Amino acid sequence: MSDLLNQERFASMYARKPPWDIGRPQRSFVEAADRVTGAILDSGCGTGENALYFAERGHTVLGIDFLEGPIQEARRKAQERGLVAEFVQKDALTLSDLDRTFNSVIDSGLFHVFSDEDRARYVDGLAHVTRPGGRLFLLCFSDEEPSGHGPRRVSQRELRESFAIGWEVEAIRASRLEVRPDLEDISFSEGGPKAWFAVIRRLG
Ligand SMILES: C[S@@+](CC[C@H](N)C(=O)[O-])C[C@H]1O[C@@H](n2cnc3c(N)ncnc32)[C@H](O)[C@@H]1O
Repeated sequence: MSDLLNQERFASMYARKPPWDIGRPQRSFVEAADRVTGAILDSGCGTGENALYFAERGHTVLGIDFLEGPIQEARRKAQERGLVAEFVQKDALTLSDLDRTFNSVIDSGLFHVFSDEDRARYVDGLAHVTRPGGRLFLLCFSDEEPSGHGPRRVSQRELRESFAIGWEVEAIRASRLEVRPDLEDISFSEGGPKAWFAVIRRLG
């Protein structure tokens, strides 16, 4: 799918209430918070709940999203909550031109959006912005979630293959993506879509 079509698709989801926009950080990141260190990039940050959670914990945080609307909403929330966090409209497929590096990168629901080709480009960009020894924390739909609504399902094998060179996959555990409780016309597994939460270390 072209980037423009992807942007239109996400913009139309934000025009309603997107399933993932739950008004708080995803539980997987809260549970892993003690391992998320230093300066953080939130890739595909949406309206910023995960980024703001880490800003509140004292991290320097940059959130990027390719849509202006969620970025503005994330900035508004930061101001309202008195938090310091930077939110920039940027395509995550262009991370290779970012002139900054991070100890930790979080990806809550972005990796599973990409085609095979874009996935490879995205991983190259992640390698560019993640410091040696730094970690990527990635939450994506799992292939154990029945097909239907939502993005591509991702297998553990695909995750391992995507990060086979220049990274060490430290852990992949079964998790859930939390979604809004008031979803209409969309159904996922009881308890939320089945997900993988992966911790992946950038090799030096
Ligand atoms: C499933 S949502 C998750 C949003 C947020 N991480 C969260 O957990 O609430 C995926 C987000 O990625 C953004 N996105 C999709 N493709 C992108 C791209 N190529 N570059 C940057 N952001 C992208 C969408 O606009 C959307 O906000």
